Amino acid sequence: MNEIIGIIGAGTMGVGIAQVALQSGHQVILVDSNAEQLEKAKLNLSHQLTKMVDKGIISLSDKYSFENRIQFSMNVELCSICHLIIEAVVENLTLKHQVFETLEKIVSESCILASNTSSFSIASIGSVLKNPNRVIGIHFFNPAPVMPLVEIIPAIQTSSDTLRESMQIIKNWGKTTLVCKDTPGFIVNRIARPFYGEALRIYEEGIADFATIDWAMTYFGGFKMGPFALMDFIGNDVNYTVTESIFHSLYFDTRFKPSVIQKRYVEARFYGRKTGRGYYDYSDQINLPVPNFNEELGKKIFNRILIMLINGAYDSIFMQIADSKDIDLATIKGLNFPKGLISWSNEMGLNNSLHQIQRLFDFYGEDRYRPSPTLKEICKSES
Ligand code: NAI
Repeated sequence: MNEIIGIIGAGTMGVGIAQVALQSGHQVILVDSNAEQLEKAKLNLSHQLTKMVDKGIISLSDKYSFENRIQFSMNVELCSICHLIIEAVVENLTLKHQVFETLEKIVSESCILASNTSSFSIASIGSVLKNPNRVIGIHFFNPAPVMPLVEIIPAIQTSSDTLRESMQIIKNWGKTTLVCKDTPGFIVNRIARPFYGEALRIYEEGIADFATIDWAMTYFGGFKMGPFALMDFIGNDVNYTVTESIFHSLYFDTRFKPSVIQKRYVEARFYGRKTGRGYYDYSDQINLPVPNFNEELGKKIFNRILIMLINGAYDSIFMQIADSKDIDLATIKGLNFPKGLISWSNEMGLNNSLHQIQRLFDFYGEDRYRPSPTLKEICKSES
């Protein structure tokens, strides 16, 4: 592999992406503005590689070869020789604009400039470039070396060459690519919202506590983690910011409305595992709350969250954001759900799905629960 890959930002994502590129044989230049962070990144990478050696995934000489092919630096000018640069600095648009402006001054005409942003549009990031057809979104999931899916987001300015070359490189890295429209949350983060949002709403209504909702989703749905355990794992601050940003960007569509309860947890710095306290208290593992193992209640909770996920998925089809195949791919490979949402809805029966969402809509009278036009259309055409 000849391309030299530049990565700007040596945080969680930057290091993970660097590891993926190294494993595919590239030379990598990893830049950060913070010397301490670079030192941490170096240690983190070495630690990850050692674990892989211990597990027999790579040999010790592979580890040395990877470490010889990466340069850690505070000097962005080193990236002048790169073919593809992936920006993974903190989620701040002004900062990202500065990075892109700086990069364009030093790289060659053909260098692709990509962003790993989760919430900004690629169109807005590329707007500062003189040659904006080289901009693209390349959105990895955390942890980048493990998660198989990468969303590729061409902006309205992106050239077909930039898209084709980016896809090729990411496919060569052994990842499954999913081309997304430049819309809020792209595909994966958008279709995932009800998993958290409806769980929070159920809690807010006093229907069940965190532990019971988590139990309902793992026991009846086969999800690896319940929504509250997962928000604590991702970080409540990160999860809340994504939700709020999607809600604002979609002009306050109430399907995506953030939760006041979650905001309070963020304000209290109850971020989850990383601060020792989130919805659960991790300082006291012995006393984790016991769910209410009432099967009727559990099934009701699981059905309500699943139907909101399914209805949202059909709405994404309606809005031309993704097709059925993309949704199932995103749910399984990007979200690690036990089944694709469209396959799941077919298994449940589409009329059953429509009936359940209609019941919620009738009961609450809120726009949030409006049945998706696509779901209605399919049911009509099949009846
Ligand atoms: P992080 O906070 O772990 O790392 C960001 C790094 O950027 C820090 O090391 C910081 O020193 C560095 N930095 C700040 N300004 C810089 C500059 N001007 N030049 C060079 N380096 C600079 O952040 P994380 O979580 O790695 O996120 C990075 C990007 O990836 C964000 O856009 C985020 O939205 C996106 N993302 C994050 C995911 C996650 O789960 N953490 C998942 C997918 C995307």
